[in-house]
Amino acid sequence: MTFETISNLIRERRTTYAYDFTEEKIDKATVEKIVSNALWAPTHKLTQPWRFVVLEGVHQNELGEFMADYYRELYTEEQFSNERYEATKSYAKNATLLAVIFQPSKRAQLPEWEEIAAISCAVQNMWLSCTTLNIGCYWDTAEATMEYGKRIPLEEGEKFLGLFMMGHLREGIEIGNRKRKPLSKKLSWTKN
Ligand SMILES: Cc1cc2nc3c(=O)[nH]c(=O)nc-3n(C[C@H](O)[C@H](O)[C@H](O)COP(=O)(O)O)c2cc1C
Repeated sequence: MTFETISNLIRERRTTYAYDFTEEKIDKATVEKIVSNALWAPTHKLTQPWRFVVLEGVHQNELGEFMADYYRELYTEEQFSNERYEATKSYAKNATLLAVIFQPSKRAQLPEWEEIAAISCAVQNMWLSCTTLNIGCYWDTAEATMEYGKRIPLEEGEKFLGLFMMGHLREGIEIGNRKRKPLSKKLSWTKN
């Protein structure tokens, strides 16, 4: 592994949406491989404050329909057209839906932000892993998705932190360049 290899991977990792996923399902072994990499994220006091649930069965259809109805209610027809409404209904049909669940450690009693920071590292591990497998993915924490997540049974103290959506990417999709601000704006050095 070289610095250049990891730098390229980091830059190639992108957010891609379920509209661009093909009908080919991600097989179970691949999902397990991806989630196994999540488990290697760093955690303060090794709390590993997460669990993941693959939402199968009715969810692919119900999520899209739920999103469509949710945004229909929230927006005017001008903001959320009929065309968009119809497309949204089947939005998630090709996606593997992985619920990200915060499972607080009873033992370590860490501040919540540390645990959620660790979960973000775990998600990044999956995101980078997907990139190497040419699997499209993103972390969906949109309002409708968070609302939909309320139907996932949780243990006491657990929180639903959105869906990590994955799918095989269709050919030739366009990704906006989503430029980053320059280093000079984000890194400074103390003077003394
Ligand atoms: C915690 C978190 C939540 C996100 N939630 C959403 C979301 O709900 N909807 C969405 O379109 N993108 C979501 N994203 C993806 C960002 O929009 C995306 O990372 C950003 O636009 C940069 O694009 P890139 O990932 O291709 O570099 C989320 C990213 C993170 C880290």
